[in-house]
Order: sequence, then C-alpha cells, then structure tokens
Amino acid sequence: MTTFETNRLIMRPFEVSDFEPFAALNRDPMVMEHFLAPLTDDESQRFMNAINREHDARGYGLWALERKDTRDFIGFTGLHHHDGATPPFPCVEVGWRLAVDAWGNGFVTEAGLRALDHGFDAAGLEEIVSFTIPANTRSRAVMDRIGLTHDPTRDFDHPRVPIGHPHRRHVLYRITRDEWDTAR
Ligand SMILES: CC(C)(COP(=O)(O)OP(=O)(O)OC[C@H]1O[C@@H](n2cnc3c(N)ncnc32)[C@H](O)[C@@H]1OP(=O)(O)O)[C@@H](O)C(=O)NCCC(=O)NCCS
Repeated sequence: MTTFETNRLIMRPFEVSDFEPFAALNRDPMVMEHFLAPLTDDESQRFMNAINREHDARGYGLWALERKDTRDFIGFTGLHHHDGATPPFPCVEVGWRLAVDAWGNGFVTEAGLRALDHGFDAAGLEEIVSFTIPANTRSRAVMDRIGLTHDPTRDFDHPRVPIGHPHRRHVLYRITRDEWDTAR
C-alpha cells in the first residue's frame, strides 16, 4: 500500500490505532452535516476495512492523514472508485473528511493535490471527479483550489439518497489527466 509525505502530512493506510479518532470523526454532527447521517461505530469499522481493501485491490484509496508535527490522525483524503451504470458512475472520486479542529489550515488542499498526482501518474486515470451537495461550500472550495472545475451539465441526483430528500441533488466537479498535466 502506498504512503506519501507532503510538507506537513503523512498520507498512509489506516492503522488499528486510527479507529477511535476515525469513529469520532464520523460521529461528529458538524463534520457529517452534509451527509444523510453520522456513522455508527459499526459502520466506521466496516468503512475502515473497505478503505484498506481498496488500497490492496486498486493501488489507491483514501489515505489516513497524520500531522507530522503532532503525529495526530486528523482525517482522510484520497481516491475512491465508484461502481454503477448511471452517470457519473462508474467514476473515481477524490474526497476528504477532516476533524473540525484541523479545518482552516490547508491540510486537505495539500493532501488532495498529492492524491490527484497519484491518480493521474501512478494509477493512470483519465478523469477524476468530486461531488457534494450545493450547500457544502467548504468542500467545493477545496475542489476549486486543487484545480477541479464545476460541470453543471453533469450535476445529478445521487441514487443512494432517497427521492425528495434535500441532499439528493449533487454538483459535479471534474479534472482530466490532460488538464492536470497542463496545470503542473
Ligand atoms: C471539506 C473540508 C475537508 C474542508 O476543510 P478545510 O480545512 O476548509 O480545507 P483545506 O484543508 O483545504 O483548508 C482551506 C482553508 O485553510 C486556509 N489555509 C491556511 N493555510 C493554507 C494553505 N497553506 N493552503 C491552502 N489553504 C490554507 C484557507 O484559506 C482555507 O480557509 P477558509 O476556510 O477560511 O477559506 C472540511 O470542511 C470537512 O471535513 N467537512 C466535513 C466533511 C465533508 O463535507 N467532506 C466532503 C464531502 S464531499
């Protein structure tokens, strides 16, 4: 499994000792405001297992973020392959989730750029997308900062969100490998 070092972070596979802070992150209503619901600890355990399985299977996945200065686990950033037949699926998404006390430092921007580099260079992907509900301005700002572009023609109703739920509509941002190469 791949591990990276950026200026301020270690991006690495999840370790058993990450479980408590990871579950706390997924239980936090402020962090999970734009999702259907916070996760139970059982859901967090299944999620953590699935993350490391994806690293083994695909050579990429969501990386645990560890601050180099404090050695604290602060969240995750990385790539996730979505199956599915209705656009934008199948696709590879760049995504993130960070403990509130770590917001506002550019950590996810730093990790997101490294994840894109891995996706286009080592993993050979042609396009990477990111999506969220329109109101998630903090996440949309990360998408902008790392070079993704909103494509309103590809906004979509998320099939895993119930019809009529206010979180069903999603905005889609994307970047191609050519655009990434040109921007570097
Ligand atoms: C989305 C989320 C990861 C964004 O976190 P964030 O800390 O705002 O994002 P970044 O790490 O890129 O940091 C950017 C902020 O740090 C500031 N910053 C400080 N130093 C910086 C640096 N070196 N580089 C970039 N930004 C820096 C920026 O100005 C910006 O601050 P602002 O919000 O006041 O404008 C976070 O809000 C989160 O976890 N939300 C809940 C989960 C979620 O919604 N995930 C996405 C689902 S699609």
